[in-house]
Amino acid sequence: MEFINVNSAIDTRIALIQLNRPNELNALNLQLMSELRDALKELDKDDNVHVIIITGNEKAFAAGADIKQMAGKTTIDMWKMDQFSTWEQIRKTKKPLIAAVSGFALGGGCELAMTCDLVVASETAKFGQPEINIGVMPGAGGTQRLTKAIGKVRAMEMVLTGKFISAQEALDYGLINKVVPVELYLEAAVSLAKKISSMSPIAVQLAKEAVNRSFETHLDQGLILERKNFYLAFASEDQKEGMQAFIEKRKAVFKGK
Ligand code: HXC
Repeated sequence: MEFINVNSAIDTRIALIQLNRPNELNALNLQLMSELRDALKELDKDDNVHVIIITGNEKAFAAGADIKQMAGKTTIDMWKMDQFSTWEQIRKTKKPLIAAVSGFALGGGCELAMTCDLVVASETAKFGQPEINIGVMPGAGGTQRLTKAIGKVRAMEMVLTGKFISAQEALDYGLINKVVPVELYLEAAVSLAKKISSMSPIAVQLAKEAVNRSFETHLDQGLILERKNFYLAFASEDQKEGMQAFIEKRKAVFKGK
């Protein structure tokens, strides 16, 4: 398959997908997300592939959903766009997904890393849910997965203040598996992938499903609520102001409307 925003390659039993919008810090626009979904769907069907690594580049795993693509949208536009069906399909990938993160993993980028099953990060990685700065809130699982991973008070602080955490903090909080020097993060992800790819792919996929089930029983309800609230934010003037201010490179002035 030919992709523009995503590159993919396969080595023995391990596939690597690289998010490829470097000039926009891999902002997750609709096209990139569709390509990622299609690449994962293909790889999930390919018996030669046991484990899939998703990575970005040294500066950014992904700096979030594409703010420029969303800025002018209404609640109904967002609802019709239905970008979350793509996220749902990605979530259903049966093979283990490893996020190899360097630089920014923010908003949808942090949520994409958390959708993966394991996360390896470089020392330069920064994780955050900064949507509050642009007048909205996490919409792709951030309020649910982050809270389950690091606990309520830490998640509240990140979600309500937009604070970033370092790779070391993310490791200490149990959000990620490993931190390594920047030149080694991909190697470390590959080495983890190799270990898993040496196991029975059937047992691995069944085990992944079971581990995920343990905390996803109530996730659907949480995600439904989160999505409604995310769409609702697009009914506010503050969302327009927050996103426009970002594009104009100025500080947002929120009015609570
Ligand atoms: C669109 C983005 C972007 C984004 C960066 N860019 N993040 N474009 N959407 N999320 C673009 C910038 O506009 C800029 O384009 C170029 O990438 C480089 O970014 P800079 O800001 O110049 O880089 P820097 O000064 O290093 O700052 C890095 C940064 C900052 C701190 C990561 O870019 C930033 O705050 N980005 C937004 C992070 C964010 O709010 N994410 C959440 C999005 S909402 P130009 O053309 O000027 O060179 C979200 C909701 C998810 O994710 C729910 C639904 C999926």
